[in-house]
Amino acid sequence: MTQLELSEKGLHVPLGGYVAYFNYFWLRDNCPSAWDPDTQERSFDILEEPDDLKPISAETSDTSLSLMWPDGHQSVYELAWLARWHRGENHGDIAVRSRKAWYGDHYSKIGRFSYTDLIAQPSFVADWAEALLDEGIALVTRMPNSNDGLQSLCELIGTVRASFSGYSFDVFSKKNPENLAYTAKALELHTDLPPEELAPGVQFLHCRINDATGGDSLFVDAVAVATEFKQRYPEYFKILCEFKTPFRYTTVDHDVRARQHIIELDPNNGEVSGISFSQHLADTFDFSQEQMDDFYPAFRKFGQMMQEPKYLMRFRLNAGECVVFDNHRIAHGRAAFDEGSGDRFLRGCYVDRGELRSKYRVLRRLHPVA
Ligand SMILES: [Fe+2]
Repeated sequence: MTQLELSEKGLHVPLGGYVAYFNYFWLRDNCPSAWDPDTQERSFDILEEPDDLKPISAETSDTSLSLMWPDGHQSVYELAWLARWHRGENHGDIAVRSRKAWYGDHYSKIGRFSYTDLIAQPSFVADWAEALLDEGIALVTRMPNSNDGLQSLCELIGTVRASFSGYSFDVFSKKNPENLAYTAKALELHTDLPPEELAPGVQFLHCRINDATGGDSLFVDAVAVATEFKQRYPEYFKILCEFKTPFRYTTVDHDVRARQHIIELDPNNGEVSGISFSQHLADTFDFSQEQMDDFYPAFRKFGQMMQEPKYLMRFRLNAGECVVFDNHRIAHGRAAFDEGSGDRFLRGCYVDRGELRSKYRVLRRLHPVA
């Protein structure tokens, strides 16, 4: 046992070749006994401790640090555990994975998963979740032609989350439509619902009928575009990361508004994690007119880059397929179709990305890659 010197707010602990500093409140708050063994929640209350909290003694062995607190409580920490937190590794997170950028030729390589396999085997769900984390998009085939089929697929990842339009949405066009609920016009590349404070995370688009001519689905990996945008136009990139752009959606019943960064960075590693982009839901930009001089060229250049054929994956979504994608990473759109040529019906819904990562952590631990 080695006696340690206690300073006012913390102590320095030798950790095999270097010395690391730890704050007393942090140490007391993270005593192994602070956690409920059944629920794994913290049951200790750091707010009740005195302002001048300080152990009365501290000593280390080869493998542990032992502290005695004024109230008689003893805390013992493994040095390896302390070293991990000092290095910033925290709990470790298998869901923080390198995103694999993809380009316009990705369709033949896109991850494909059969609905029946996914329902039958959780290890396939782990593979599917991994594809969504890495590439942001995957195709599910052999879907049942039912609303329940889509719901069951979503629930393999998490709970269906509502948007202001409800728990699901239908995109349909009939050969002889009684109303023009949706047009057959092209839909520009966008992410869904940036006017929502937390825009939907994972989007499911289940194709139930596609007998119309045209209407190809369009997808772009914003990680690929924004990463190259950063190299080509670093000043523009900075603007789109920093300006919080207003979005708005209004109907008789709704007036939904939020501000988003057009390019989003991953707080874990600073890499591009996605975008919020929708010209039809962008509100009137309200930056100063001088800032518009900087913002518009950056915004326009980024939007133009997204449309470059190099990035644009285009394919026909067939009945029985469900495309699943990260709505914060993958911009999507649709080519125009011939409204009189046949029926077209897609049903969509969303699950939050936090649920995707949670499900992945749990399932991958149970079903490691062979
Ligand atoms: Fe959309």
